[in-house]
Amino acid sequence: MRFFVLTLFPDMVRDGLHTSIIGRAIQAGHLSLEAVNIRDFSANKHQKVDDYPYGGGAGMLMQAQPVYDAFQSVTERIGRRPRCIYLTPQGKTFHQKMAKELAMEEELIFLCGHYEGIDERVLEEIVTDYVSIGDYVLTGGELPAMVMIDAISRMVPGVLSNEESGSTESFEDCLLEYPQYSRPEEWMGKKVPQILLSGHHKNIEAWRREQSKMRTKERRPDLWGQYLLEHPKE
Ligand code: ADE
Repeated sequence: MRFFVLTLFPDMVRDGLHTSIIGRAIQAGHLSLEAVNIRDFSANKHQKVDDYPYGGGAGMLMQAQPVYDAFQSVTERIGRRPRCIYLTPQGKTFHQKMAKELAMEEELIFLCGHYEGIDERVLEEIVTDYVSIGDYVLTGGELPAMVMIDAISRMVPGVLSNEESGSTESFEDCLLEYPQYSRPEEWMGKKVPQILLSGHHKNIEAWRREQSKMRTKERRPDLWGQYLLEHPKE
């Protein structure tokens, strides 16, 4: 899968994603990441990419031309026009199902805004999806793009080892993960639940499922409501 990120801060995106599991997947060739600096496409001799909004108001806007040219530099090179995701608090809220669906694409372009936003005309021209990562306002689209790329990448075959996969499945089933324990058997007077030491796999599985349900009920009543709708017999 190929990711292209149109941004004024390419180093932030590269540095953030070239570490840990996603960095390993890029090295192994399961993913590729290209951070395209929008400033490189400024037609201005001072490499300016922003200007005042018509009609007045606070702050500066990113101008249409450099954004459009950065987009075109990608689409012309790869010979197609992939989905282009604009990160904005005005978008649809990102979730696990969306990550799974986007992981089926061969390429994705992420457009990161800064300042007070981007000239509406270029958004109309190139954006296919408006996505938010939650109801709060960040200073730019880079962190949301990185969040999305991380979540999408771990759904791409080969990115996670066998041991690392699986952990999403419970979330997809509307349940949170059960609690987990490692050595020692006793720490600060707290013992590992006896059943996990029993070696009885069926009972352990049933215990974990029950813990998942209790935890979801308590911590995410909204998710629990969804679970009950999908499993009406429970
Ligand atoms: N840009 C600024 N805030 C954002 C958010 N919450 N989600 C996506 N993009 C953003």
